[in-house]
Amino acid sequence: MQAAAKLIKAAERTAVFTGAGISTESGVPDFRSSTGLYSQNADAMTLLSLSTFHTHPAKFYRFFREAFLRHLDVEPNRAHEVLTRWQQEGTVQTIITQNVDGLHQKSGSVSVLEMHGHLRTAHCLRCQCTVPMDEIVRCTDPYPICPGCDSPLKPDVVLFEENLPQGIFEQALSAVGTADLLIVAGTSLSVSPANYLVDYRNPGGKLLIVNKEPTNYDQTADCVIYGEAGSVFTKLDSILHQD
Ligand code: APR
Ligand code: ZN
Repeated sequence: MQAAAKLIKAAERTAVFTGAGISTESGVPDFRSSTGLYSQNADAMTLLSLSTFHTHPAKFYRFFREAFLRHLDVEPNRAHEVLTRWQQEGTVQTIITQNVDGLHQKSGSVSVLEMHGHLRTAHCLRCQCTVPMDEIVRCTDPYPICPGCDSPLKPDVVLFEENLPQGIFEQALSAVGTADLLIVAGTSLSVSPANYLVDYRNPGGKLLIVNKEPTNYDQTADCVIYGEAGSVFTKLDSILHQD
């Protein structure tokens, strides 16, 4: 913990890269740990694909509503709150997330780079009409259709078989390429191209990983802390503000 605090104190420019593990303490399951969405449902990755959206929109929405829309009212936890405070005091410059839950923003973080989209809207692939997600939540049809052309509305999260939102990946690459500390928290780092951010980080920079379980990048890190993100970040925060 002291070594990690030292890295954070010494860094001029820090980028943070988070995954689903930072939201589990808010009640949002992650994907690949034993209690995760994919461990609980073997078809999850197929169901959350662009092909299923196109060929079986009702089946897609049955799973999407169950997996994502029932967590819309969760609150940020201590890990989000500490990162927001660090961003406000200039300890952290950029927050990049794979999460679509919006909890970094809900806790007050700004200019969050959302690599895998978000749950604020859905849009029509044919005429680009965009609809707020709370209308999708209220929709009782098997799947929501575009008010303009009757095509199914696609949630603005990145589905399997889809590319990342234009420009976000480049912004994230530039942030990690210029950071002298990259903090990775709550991610198995098993999804590309998101995990390329760790491969293409500033070669002269340091890497701190905070995760409950080991990742394939632990050997390349300058410091790894195994534990719950909420308590780890709270402890780091108190060390940073000790003197
Ligand atoms: N504190 C720290 N780490 C945690 C916590 C916690 N409270 N809870 C879970 N973890 C760890 C798990 O041990 C796991 O290693 O967080 C990691 C979450 O990994 P995944 O479930 O694979 O989630 P993530 O890495 O964000 O997945 C990336 O995969 O399917 C896509 O779009 C989806 O954005 C997601 C991407
Ligand atoms: Zn349309």
